[in-house]
Amino acid sequence: MGRVAGKKVFITGGAQGLGACFGRMLADEGAKVALTDVNFEGANETAAAINETHPGAAFAYHHDVTSKDDWSRSLGEAAEAMGGISVLINNAGIGAAGNIETETYENWRRTQEIDVDAIFVGTQLAMPYLKDNQPGSIINISSVAGLMADGMMLSYNAAKSAVWMMSKSIALHCARAGYDLRCNSVHPVFTRTPIIDPLIDLGGGGDLGEKKLTRQIPLQRLGEPEDVGYCILYLASDESRFVTASEFKIDGGITA
Ligand SMILES: NC(=O)c1ccc[n+]([C@@H]2O[C@H](COP(=O)([O-])OP(=O)(O)OC[C@H]3O[C@@H](n4cnc5c(N)ncnc54)[C@H](O)[C@@H]3O)[C@@H](O)[C@H]2O)c1
Repeated sequence: MGRVAGKKVFITGGAQGLGACFGRMLADEGAKVALTDVNFEGANETAAAINETHPGAAFAYHHDVTSKDDWSRSLGEAAEAMGGISVLINNAGIGAAGNIETETYENWRRTQEIDVDAIFVGTQLAMPYLKDNQPGSIINISSVAGLMADGMMLSYNAAKSAVWMMSKSIALHCARAGYDLRCNSVHPVFTRTPIIDPLIDLGGGGDLGEKKLTRQIPLQRLGEPEDVGYCILYLASDESRFVTASEFKIDGGITA
């Protein structure tokens, strides 16, 4: 039996990067996974690769997390395909660079819309499915940027810290309501996915750009998607059954 055998996991932003890695690792441990993304082709390719080793374990859906209609449709279709939804991973997100003098209102709004508003809308719509499939787990991907600020990350800092507190509020509501439904946030540091390419470029590109990021991290390397994936496996499984309203820093020590 795998660590998450029988779990039915809905993952946003599942086409590439962290979301794709979570899908692979969860399927390896026995879960069914629905990978959703605005990049349907990418989600579909990732699901097909998973199905090669775990036939029938992965499904792909086109889903823009800023669209309420997309949420309703993809949640319904995924629940039908997997036989319910017991784990929701709010992972889709975008980065944003800009300070209080350079950031545009449009970019601020777009960042809040994808990184924060979508988690409110989607989690609310997912609640009936999660309540029907207890025990359940909601996992929100925040960032170390939700816990510590940078002058150039105005919109991203604001968005990711909102995700941190929102996760606790969701967790407390579920606990008080008597649901066996936990909610936690995960806070990665720079992790090797396409989202950090602009940061590497900003630092001069290639090895130089990467060095500028890693020298801030006590463990002296970038995170790998699997480093975050092991935390997701734990939170999606019943091993974490007494863990709710917590924040998990996968950060090589940077927030110390
Ligand atoms: N990689 C890191 O260094 C790092 C660090 C901290 C937090 N995070 C967070 O992890 C999450 C995953 O990021 P990643 O590193 O895999 O980045 P990524 O850019 O590789 O993947 C993000 C995915 O989200 C999808 N997406 C973007 N907008 C969407 C929308 N409106 N609707 C649906 N899907 C959408 C993209 O198509 C992409 O597949 C994000 O929330 C990000 O903020 C990443």
